[in-house]
Amino acid sequence: MTTPLRLGIAGLGTVGTGVVKIVQRQAALLEKRSGRAVTISAISARSRDKDRGIRLGDYAWEDDPVALAKRDDVDVFVELMGGSDGPAKAATEAALGAGKDVVTANKAMLAHHGQSLANLAEDNGRVLRFEAAVAGGIPVIKALTEGLAGNEITRVMGVMNGTCNYILTRMENAGLPYDDVFAEADALGYLEADPKLDVGGIDAGHKLCLLASIAFGTNVDFDNVQLEGIEKIETTDIEQAADMGFRIKLLGVAQMTPRGLEQRMSPCLVPANSPLGQLEGGTNMVVLEGDSVEQIVLRGPGAGEGPTASAVMADVIDIARGTRLSTFGQPAATLSAAPPSATSIPAPYYIRLQLHDKPGALAKVATALGEAAVSIDRMRQYGHDEPTAPVLIVTHKTTQEALDQALAAMAETDVVEGSPVAIRVEAV
Ligand code: HSE
Repeated sequence: MTTPLRLGIAGLGTVGTGVVKIVQRQAALLEKRSGRAVTISAISARSRDKDRGIRLGDYAWEDDPVALAKRDDVDVFVELMGGSDGPAKAATEAALGAGKDVVTANKAMLAHHGQSLANLAEDNGRVLRFEAAVAGGIPVIKALTEGLAGNEITRVMGVMNGTCNYILTRMENAGLPYDDVFAEADALGYLEADPKLDVGGIDAGHKLCLLASIAFGTNVDFDNVQLEGIEKIETTDIEQAADMGFRIKLLGVAQMTPRGLEQRMSPCLVPANSPLGQLEGGTNMVVLEGDSVEQIVLRGPGAGEGPTASAVMADVIDIARGTRLSTFGQPAATLSAAPPSATSIPAPYYIRLQLHDKPGALAKVATALGEAAVSIDRMRQYGHDEPTAPVLIVTHKTTQEALDQALAAMAETDVVEGSPVAIRVEAV
């Protein structure tokens, strides 16, 4: 008779509760698929008495997650506490050091310490898996490490923060300003405890750098993700973009360029009729491109109890089956240190500026663009706010450097009020 795979679960928030429910509700299915029973030995969470609507009486309780991680009756430590450092990291390290496999949903911890934790796992002959850390229920880690293993990955893109996509699509559909929709999202409980993680692009940036590591065989490099959040997006940009056939998304893009690894998480215009452009509400989408497969699109829930627990269980079942994959798709010691590259692939840009409505003003803006070798594709002046007028320009393909040079030159003129908004148009 095969022995059961025994879990120790640290963290009983939304995801931990969902994992316990699956283990209890799907015991027979898990056993059939894994070839062995999957059981829970022990639990650790902040509050022992909180009513979570699940039976916990059969499991041992540990107040200290590090003690849980080291228990003799735990084979797999399931880390669902969150936080890049502190107890999550200490318990993960303790588990690996004690010879346990680890499954985690903790993108922040892996973005900051993924390399050292993957090294530690391999030094101890253990696996460290994290399907639930990226895009919730979408099996994107499996898609990259297994389904597309025969491809040279050329580009990874994704809308991987449901809260931001909810805010942007709600601003568009209801015509509401950012602050109102942010307050709505807060009331609905969509925002992280620190909202900057969502709207500042940090949470999605964590996810992007993990995908980039697998896709390009490089060290996890969160520090070199170019991050820009959605806080400055105005309803007028969303409306103008829509009028030209685009939608604004907080889009992550990672690609290997001749200059190095480019990783950016920033608002972009994408064609409204593309799969990314059609993504509504809190849903996530990841687009993977490889030399043989061309392009695949994965869409699904990026957060929530069931979807995220589903992803945790996929890793647990792999371990139960004896499938032992490297954390980032190849041995951690073989991941390379790619030089980071700023945005280098040319693209069109959307520019919105407040222009003084007087003779020669537009000529000065056109000169600033022309002298930076930025060519205008489309332009409109679409309203009138005395004494300035909003002007919208879409450029032909240009580099970020040329655009920055043009914006700096515009700032030197006496005809542009405030800072222009500039958003890249991404070919998807
Ligand atoms: N806050 C994230 C989101 C989910 O809104 O998608 C957790 O990463």
